[in-house]
Amino acid sequence: MLKRLLFDSKNLNVTVSRLCNQLLENHNHFQNSVIIGLQPRGIFFAQRIINEIEKQIAKKIQKGYLDTTFYRDDYKNNRKELDAKETSIPFSLDEKNVIIVDDVLFTGRTVRSAMEGIINFGRPNKIELLVLIDRKFNREIPIEATYIGKSVNTIESQKVLVNLKEQGYKNDKIWIVKTNWMNLLNNKHLLGIKNLDLSEIDLIFNTADRFKEVLTRPIKKVPSLRHITIANVFFENSTRTKLSFELAEKRLSAEILNFSSSGSSVKKGESLLDTIKNILVMKVDIMVIRHSSPGVPQFIANNVDASVVNAGDGSHEHPTQALLDAYSIKEKLGNINNKKIAIIGDIIHSRVAISNIFLLKKLGAKVMVCGPKTLIPKHISDLDIIVENNIKKALEWADVANVLRIQLERQEVKYFPSLREYSLYFGINNKLLKSINKDLIIMHPGPINRGIEISSDVADSSRSIILNQVENGVAIRMAILYLLSLNIK
Ligand code: CP
Repeated sequence: MLKRLLFDSKNLNVTVSRLCNQLLENHNHFQNSVIIGLQPRGIFFAQRIINEIEKQIAKKIQKGYLDTTFYRDDYKNNRKELDAKETSIPFSLDEKNVIIVDDVLFTGRTVRSAMEGIINFGRPNKIELLVLIDRKFNREIPIEATYIGKSVNTIESQKVLVNLKEQGYKNDKIWIVKTNWMNLLNNKHLLGIKNLDLSEIDLIFNTADRFKEVLTRPIKKVPSLRHITIANVFFENSTRTKLSFELAEKRLSAEILNFSSSGSSVKKGESLLDTIKNILVMKVDIMVIRHSSPGVPQFIANNVDASVVNAGDGSHEHPTQALLDAYSIKEKLGNINNKKIAIIGDIIHSRVAISNIFLLKKLGAKVMVCGPKTLIPKHISDLDIIVENNIKKALEWADVANVLRIQLERQEVKYFPSLREYSLYFGINNKLLKSINKDLIIMHPGPINRGIEISSDVADSSRSIILNQVENGVAIRMAILYLLSLNIK
């Protein structure tokens, strides 16, 4: 492997000083100028520049950092490390002189996507580019750096590895070497939690963190999926999941088709597979599917080329709900390992319960199910979970109670004498919680049957994170759709 040292700490310091002097000449004491470092490696170099300038002018300057991942147009064929990182520009860029700082300028695509990202934070007066290394012979997009540390003549197959740490001045080394591959999901579909491994769950949560930040911006939209068409195919009623997927897709700039079986030709006798094939022939890349029969998403995935996302199939799985639930617990408690989670209510008909159990066990939680014996599957303890029939004991044990709806539409026989009796023995209300006297987080996937499995005083209380779950659902679904799109050929 070709390995050539471009900079060591000594000549890097000389270059940083020269670049800072050039900046100071052109930026009148940084009165109206800001520095934006590009993730991931550009921010370390930007910090060097900022430290040096602040030392010279003896005052703090405005600075931020930007991740360009969701603005890139080359993320499918350019398999360099592209995991999304944090963005922080906590001030308006209106009328500012912006200096974008990156470590390496290669094809120009990062800078082009950075300019698209920058515009979401205001309309600058001027945008300049400062780079440590300019690989100018590899440029694909006509972008020129204003300030350059060193120009190098590289061929495309070579990689530049920048080894700068925030404070590691003595260990600086910049080589031409090979870089890592980016992280991807292992599968082109998301059909259930069962087959996700820990690194994939981590990747989804980390990517969702990045999208949560996007959703706080004035312009809550990125162009990542502008080349992707997604069909939301719902054969069963939904409020949260359907709206959440649709909004996630819009935030990612995807083209969207919405299909509901009611009012469709399904009512005229068209088969499931014919319906799906007719939708797919319109050049759909990803299909989000909800169906009342377990296994339908898997059946469709076996029969079509598109990526399939399970948005809930009968009493089988609801993977995106489990992911947003676990993400919300992690957000509230910091981590999930060793936390005690009680899932309460109609376990036997619940895809949410099954997906939650699979996911929470993978993440190291202690899981309990609680409800009337008739609503708990016989062999569920084989999943290494605790079974409890006394609601008070369950709540005394738990850190988190995930309360489920009684699914009357899936109950073909009577599982308990009356809703009134269920509510009396298993309903969660303030009186019951007060008798336990401990901090307990209350969750519910929705829709809520107020006064049956949960009372309004609990659902609307400060211990409830029910609406946080819904809010997090958008970021989680953006993460899943974005990560699946990376696997589309
Ligand atoms: N949690 C959930 O799946 O809700 P919807 O049925 O409204 O989508």
